[in-house]
Amino acid sequence: VTKVGVLTSGGDAPGMNAAVRAVVRAAIFNKLKVVGIKQGYHGMIQDRMEPMTSKSVSNIIHQGGTILKSARSEGFRTPEGRKKAFENLKKSGVDGLVVIGGDGTFTGARIFSQEYNIPIVGIPGTIDNDLFGTDYTIGYDTALNTVVQAVDKIRDTASAHSRLFFIEVMGRDAGFLALRSGIASGAEAILVPEIDTDFKQLYTFLEKGFNKDKSSSIVLVAEGEKISGGAIHVAERVQKEYPDYDTRVTILGHIQRGGSPTAFDRVTASRMGVSAIEALVDDQKSIMIGLVNKEITHIPFNQALKNKKKLNPSLVELTSILSI
Ligand code: F6P
Repeated sequence: VTKVGVLTSGGDAPGMNAAVRAVVRAAIFNKLKVVGIKQGYHGMIQDRMEPMTSKSVSNIIHQGGTILKSARSEGFRTPEGRKKAFENLKKSGVDGLVVIGGDGTFTGARIFSQEYNIPIVGIPGTIDNDLFGTDYTIGYDTALNTVVQAVDKIRDTASAHSRLFFIEVMGRDAGFLALRSGIASGAEAILVPEIDTDFKQLYTFLEKGFNKDKSSSIVLVAEGEKISGGAIHVAERVQKEYPDYDTRVTILGHIQRGGSPTAFDRVTASRMGVSAIEALVDDQKSIMIGLVNKEITHIPFNQALKNKKKLNPSLVELTSILSI
């Protein structure tokens, strides 16, 4: 590899900039040329590339979002789109890629690297933490802290009015963000897509809570929560069952995607970025960098994509113990 292209793709996540910085600086350290590809695969098709220097990544380690911008590219799903993208890479002399994103990003990368035999290394960046082969994805820790801060604030007003709040958290089809932030914020119940909502059990929790004269209750609901259909729907159902409860719904939304990354996300991003370049220098291809038991690991895209990461059962159990 002589010239690396780096891009961010899919939903942005805090810490992506720290990863871009690490990739660019590690590439330069290893005497490689490096270009930034704007707006993910979309920009690859549109030929939006620019040379990166050590200075182009100054002062970004603390910034949310991504200086390279991101996109969910429809064009890259088509063979024609990928052909155009490859032609643009060839024209620019890019012979290796680092892609920062989630499973959609790696699915595209796997197909592209098979079709055109170009080495690609993936760095997991998504607030959802839903990638198999890594304990943490970049952005998850920051989003967790954002959710916890928001829930703490809602708790103040919930308590002042003795209200029951349903708070909807992001996570696409996964409950990692909801589960962990729910534990950290002391939620009475946490509804996640991986576990069918048992309304009877939820009612028991809530009744117990109000019988104990709890001044307020918080239920965290993961978006896309399959059976219940999200926080609004759950709240409506509970309200019907308990007309006396004073319920409210808050959907946290994209606030969870922004903000300055935590120290943990910055360090993880820095380690993964350097490791991605070292992997390319080592002639590795089609792998994702992971963080497993605090150590940097490599896992083939195939394996990362084929397997579904599971919620930690001990955390699931914890919630039922702690909400009595
Ligand atoms: O994958 C990150 C994520 O924020 C998910 O949690 C959410 O379902 C989705 O992206 C929202 O996508 P968009 O920003 O395109 O609306």
